[in-house]
Amino acid sequence: MLIVRKIREMQSIAETVRKDKIIGFVPTMGFLHEGHLSLVRKSKEMTDVTVVSIFVNPIQFGPNEDFEMYPRDLERDRSLLEKEKVDVLFIPEKDEMYGEDYKTYVRVQEMEDYLCGKTRKGHFQGVATVVTKLFNIVKPHLAFFGQKDYQQLKIIEKLVRDLNMDVNIVACPTIREPDGLAMSSRNTYLSQEERKKAQHIYMALIKAEELFKKGERNAKKLVEEARNLLSSVEGLEIEYISVVDCETLEELEWINDSGVVAIACRIGKTRLIDNTILRRYEHDESHDEIKDSQGKGY
Ligand code: PAJ
Repeated sequence: MLIVRKIREMQSIAETVRKDKIIGFVPTMGFLHEGHLSLVRKSKEMTDVTVVSIFVNPIQFGPNEDFEMYPRDLERDRSLLEKEKVDVLFIPEKDEMYGEDYKTYVRVQEMEDYLCGKTRKGHFQGVATVVTKLFNIVKPHLAFFGQKDYQQLKIIEKLVRDLNMDVNIVACPTIREPDGLAMSSRNTYLSQEERKKAQHIYMALIKAEELFKKGERNAKKLVEEARNLLSSVEGLEIEYISVVDCETLEELEWINDSGVVAIACRIGKTRLIDNTILRRYEHDESHDEIKDSQGKGY
């Protein structure tokens, strides 16, 4: 596995590889788990050369958030990625990405204000900016993102469409622990007791799914049931439970064909998010095909 630290070097490798190979890219903030590795495996399956980046992006953390204490273990990450036969690991320093005179930011209006955007001001601007920069550095044909961070995924899809970026976004399903808790680097913050409480987030999503399957279409009812389940968990503080449109992320009152139930809560000092997509008709992924702007299929 090639380790690259400099932007110029990464760009020049990408330039050469792109001539006759498909580049797959998995951006991460490290402290890797099976969720990240599922994205890597998907990239290995669909592309010729897989690039993974590890960069804890300071501009997507608010002043009172966990940038300093965000878990980091580069040696462990590196050996996990070696095992997956990743081709290139890109690990820039903070100064390499944001020089002293850094001035340019990317925003996806409205979508950045809903859900997590209400409490994490500036977060999605930080994400949209770093992802734009990383795309310009790694020059991927395909980039892989997890559905676990649903708002992030949709904002990046929109960003790519609006700015005509020559990259295809591949959405990957949420990987969970055996009890249903969505895998996250932040799960390491949880004490044993908190970890037990955390599984109720998934239970609340399942509850909403069950009601939807039984025919409930009133978003308020789904939220109310999920809220009842979560508010009985001592020490779990609900930040939001919302049912939103799958594309615009606007709050829904009524679910016609589809919607997303999204939850954010705090357990102790740990903030956790999760979601589930509700669809009236089963989505058959075997019919999905990815095409680039020239109509070339992958
Ligand atoms: P990070 O939290 O490290 O996540 C990197 C990628 O892994 C994201 O696309 C995320 O959705 C995906 N992921 C995380 N947990 C997952 C799970 N349980 N199942 C499936 N996929 C999962 O998201 C970021 O980093 C950053 O915001 C980033 C996009 C790298 C920009 O800084």
